[in-house]
Amino acid sequence: MTAVSAAGSPVTRSASVPRHVAIVMDGNGRWARKRFMPRVFGHKFGMETVVKVIDDCASRGVEYLTVYAFSSENWKRPDEEVSGLMNLVLVGVSKYLQRLAKDGIRIKVAGDRSVVSEKVRQAWNEAEALTAKNTGLTLTVAFNYGGRWDIVQACKRALADGNPPELLSEDVLSRYMALAHAPDPDLFIRTGGEVRVSNFLLWQLAYAEFHFTDCLWPDFDVAELDKAIAAYASRDRRFGGVKEGAGPISTNGASA
Ligand code: IPE
Ligand code: IPE
Ligand code: MG
Repeated sequence: MTAVSAAGSPVTRSASVPRHVAIVMDGNGRWARKRFMPRVFGHKFGMETVVKVIDDCASRGVEYLTVYAFSSENWKRPDEEVSGLMNLVLVGVSKYLQRLAKDGIRIKVAGDRSVVSEKVRQAWNEAEALTAKNTGLTLTVAFNYGGRWDIVQACKRALADGNPPELLSEDVLSRYMALAHAPDPDLFIRTGGEVRVSNFLLWQLAYAEFHFTDCLWPDFDVAELDKAIAAYASRDRRFGGVKEGAGPISTNGASA
């Protein structure tokens, strides 16, 4: 229950705060369009928002934050936007990596790195290597990530490792998924008003609580984060069982 804030001091997470928050950061393009600016302008502001949200999550005791930065399907966008997003990785790493590393943030990247440019691959490798030993919040950036890709790559690697197909299980596959380093997300947030998953963590979201907001990602702030955490705190998580104290699981343990 103890995380380390971005400032380096330990923060004890109360039970009403999710341990792992996963965010579909949507709405950058519309945010830019409202300002008569190119879409990449929205992505640039979106990156500043991520940096603030990392701090806000760490100070509330969130231990894992996973952000959807580029989906397997985002290659369909105009070349100019795709190259703008790739360039933002380089800008973001050179501008913020040292600070995040100093603040104790551990960075992980989830997604197919084999098809991105050498420069982008190196930037992600550097971010992971420099922060590997940090013990603060774990930031996972889902980049060229798709939930279906993740399931397929996990199966391939599990089989290539010599696991016999008849012994493949949920536990075995979980060890090969791109988020094997993190517990399943407790809270899923999607900004931008769309109410869909868009191929984000299909396997890992099995029992996450969902929160949707019309707020466009560059406008997401600590008040929005607190709204999402409050919504989470009001949910009754049952994981397929019955509410504790009210039914057969708590009254006679091993029933039905
Ligand atoms: C999300 O914002 C960021 C990425 C997909 C990289 P969008 O670019 O999808 O913004 P909208 O949905 O068009 O407003
Ligand atoms: C999801 O947003 C991907 C990211 C936020 C990186 P999209 O804007 O790509 O999703 P759709 O196309 O509206 O489903
Ligand atoms: Mg979008």
